[in-house]
Amino acid sequence: MEFRSATHGDIAEIVAFTTDTFEWGDYVPEMIGEWIDDPSGTVMVAVDDSGITGLARVVLLSNTEAWSHAARIRPDRRGEGIAGQLADVLLDWARAHGALIVRLLVEDDNHASIRQVAKAGLRRVATAVRAGRPIGDATPNPDGNGGRRTSSGFTARPVKAADAPMLAAAWSSSRCGRPLRGLIANGWRFHILTEPDLIDAAQRGGLWEIGSSWAVTRQDEATFGVSLLDTDPAEAFDAIRSLIDVANERGAEAFSMWLADIDWLTQAARRAGCDVSPSGIWVYSL
Ligand SMILES: CC(C)(COP(=O)(O)OP(=O)(O)OC[C@H]1O[C@@H](n2cnc3c(N)ncnc32)[C@H](O)[C@@H]1OP(=O)(O)O)[C@@H](O)C(=O)NCCC(=O)NCCS
Repeated sequence: MEFRSATHGDIAEIVAFTTDTFEWGDYVPEMIGEWIDDPSGTVMVAVDDSGITGLARVVLLSNTEAWSHAARIRPDRRGEGIAGQLADVLLDWARAHGALIVRLLVEDDNHASIRQVAKAGLRRVATAVRAGRPIGDATPNPDGNGGRRTSSGFTARPVKAADAPMLAAAWSSSRCGRPLRGLIANGWRFHILTEPDLIDAAQRGGLWEIGSSWAVTRQDEATFGVSLLDTDPAEAFDAIRSLIDVANERGAEAFSMWLADIDWLTQAARRAGCDVSPSGIWVYSL
């Protein structure tokens, strides 16, 4: 088996075996061209006489943190350990580019992937819970726009960048930040929260205080995402409801949050109408 960086000439072959990876399809066919051109990461392919047997990508999120994702082995070649060999090549790439740590995310129901990453020497260090629901016009639920709804007991207020240092310092030892090891989500990727993350969030209107809780949010087109929520059992439900209020006001159609895996927090998310699903965050120290 040969391992090399993917080129545009590989796209058709990759698309041919990644279109229906999951029940919902796959994002690889849409993203692969962009990833190949992105100098902050690399897409490695495994190739033998039968052609491309698999791919995986690693990308630098900071000077020292890398993120690995999009491991896809051609269905007829699964179970041969190819993903493990690809992981070794990606770890070498990350090391050579200055990373000290590589992280990745695996959904708890992906047993094949969990076995593979554990065999590759990664350690599971945290659980992140994805909680989401449709909102606004996208839902028949009366909680949505235009229907009868009870307002949350709190209002989310924007926080100024001046408060970023204090919040950033508090996160890793906070009730919700500790189990998440001080990580924050950016889309589906996690990195250690830094002050610049919060200054940036404040400057684009995505840093909020809600009672004594606080949150970082990001809106991408129709999805309103909560990248971080620090709250407590007394406030969790109202904090989530007030974030849903903000999402509704901004015309979002979908609401999604990354939460620490704490019973009272996931229960509050369910009470607010969210479906929840846990994923493991795995780490390899280089
Ligand atoms: C997850 C995946 C990348 C693993 O790659 P792989 O090269 O098959 O990994 P391995 O050969 O180490 O097998 C891993 C586990 O898959 C399972 N497995 C074995 N044969 C399999 C097959 N034919 N089909 C599916 N899974 C199989 C086994 O549990 C195996 O563990 P074991 O060898 O300890 O019993 C691959 O299954 C895949 O492409 N899955 C679909 C995409 C996906 O889920 N990607 C990861 C997203 S986080």
